[in-house]
Amino acid sequence: MNLLNDLKNNYQKNPNRLTHIEGVVAWSVKLASHLNLDLEAMRTAAYLHDFTKPYSKKDHETIFKTYHENVPNDFPTFAYHAVSAALVGDHLYQIKNPEILNAVRYHTTGRPAMSLFEKVLMFADKTEPSRPYEEADLLRKKALENFDQAFILMLTLLQEYDVLENRPINPYSQLTYQFYLTQVEAS
Ligand SMILES: [Fe+2]
Repeated sequence: MNLLNDLKNNYQKNPNRLTHIEGVVAWSVKLASHLNLDLEAMRTAAYLHDFTKPYSKKDHETIFKTYHENVPNDFPTFAYHAVSAALVGDHLYQIKNPEILNAVRYHTTGRPAMSLFEKVLMFADKTEPSRPYEEADLLRKKALENFDQAFILMLTLLQEYDVLENRPINPYSQLTYQFYLTQVEAS
């Protein structure tokens, strides 16, 4: 099985979405190189991160069932693809590097105490060049000066968007916000 070919197949009906993925690949690898992370591993993680995004809720649930993954009831459905992509990467494509699998699994909600590798994938997903919001430019610039600060700024913006849009913040993103934004207040 070939991850790249299969990815293109998954996106046949929505090729525009591949622009986003290519953007995440290029930007996360650039950041990885800047931060001395494993470039090949980052490339794989970026290609895998939205692999199952076009799948239906039912498809995700079938993947969870197949690989005995217990997804809690309060886990947000918009993040199902992150978990199912990690499972598919592990079991179908034999990607066994835990850094890659965790980065993919947590790229949507984040989690407390992420590794730098995980943070880079999440950050690149939210700030790759085809993302349309105006602060993305600033975030990209800042990331090359001080990645950790840029990451926290990105989380602040994400939280603000959730509040602005009146979206109830799911408990998983909430934990991530609390962990990182409280850290800033304490420093
Ligand atoms: Fe993405």
